Amino acid sequence: MVKPKLLIATRSPGKRREIEVLLAELPYRLTFPEEAGLPERPEEEGLESADTFQGNAILKARYFARLSGLPTVAEDSGLEVFSLGGLPGVRSRRFAPVAPMRGDDQDEANNRELLRRLAGAPAHRRKARYRCVVAYLERPDSVPQIFEGSCYGSIAEAPRGAGGFGYDPIFFSDELGMTFGEAPAEAKHRVSHRGRAFRAFAEWILRHAVGS
Ligand code: IMP
Repeated sequence: MVKPKLLIATRSPGKRREIEVLLAELPYRLTFPEEAGLPERPEEEGLESADTFQGNAILKARYFARLSGLPTVAEDSGLEVFSLGGLPGVRSRRFAPVAPMRGDDQDEANNRELLRRLAGAPAHRRKARYRCVVAYLERPDSVPQIFEGSCYGSIAEAPRGAGGFGYDPIFFSDELGMTFGEAPAEAKHRVSHRGRAFRAFAEWILRHAVGS
């Protein structure tokens, strides 16, 4: 039997690598925007204009479901530092200003900026969590199904490890006792915000959608 397609509405290579592993057991053929014939368009900039992770996840899912006509899953995620009022939060991806013309790396610039803001801060001011909200639409006009995951830790004094992506070298996981940059991929998946949100989604879709 040919597996039905499920569109994963992300263009982030870091997220893609993780989601492919997290959803590997689902009886769906995972497809990504480029492969579904949806090259990037300027209007996608507006898909992260909501002020909550859930709002952004729904905007992305709705947009890609309409364009593709496929069952679509989108996620919005980020890092919240409690002493900074939840920053970088929904602005995690573009937290630091960068000059791409100069070849600046956005992730590295974000990490430097966060370390700068927390320079000299004691442990209690470095506490943080990652959050991930997943929105699933079976059809473009469906009511979105929402799944969430979070994981707690703190911002390290300096980057450690080259694994993962984004803020991982400076996010020290309470559960793993190391940064996500130092953690093997399986360990990150076990405790991460994305692992938790996508496992909740996978459990739900197996119960509600396939063959039901
Ligand atoms: P968005 O969901 O596309 O707006 O971007 C999320 C941003 O949050 C990423 O670009 C990263 O900067 C950060 N982020 C989200 N999840 C992770 C993670 O698992 N590791 C490291 N950074 C993350």
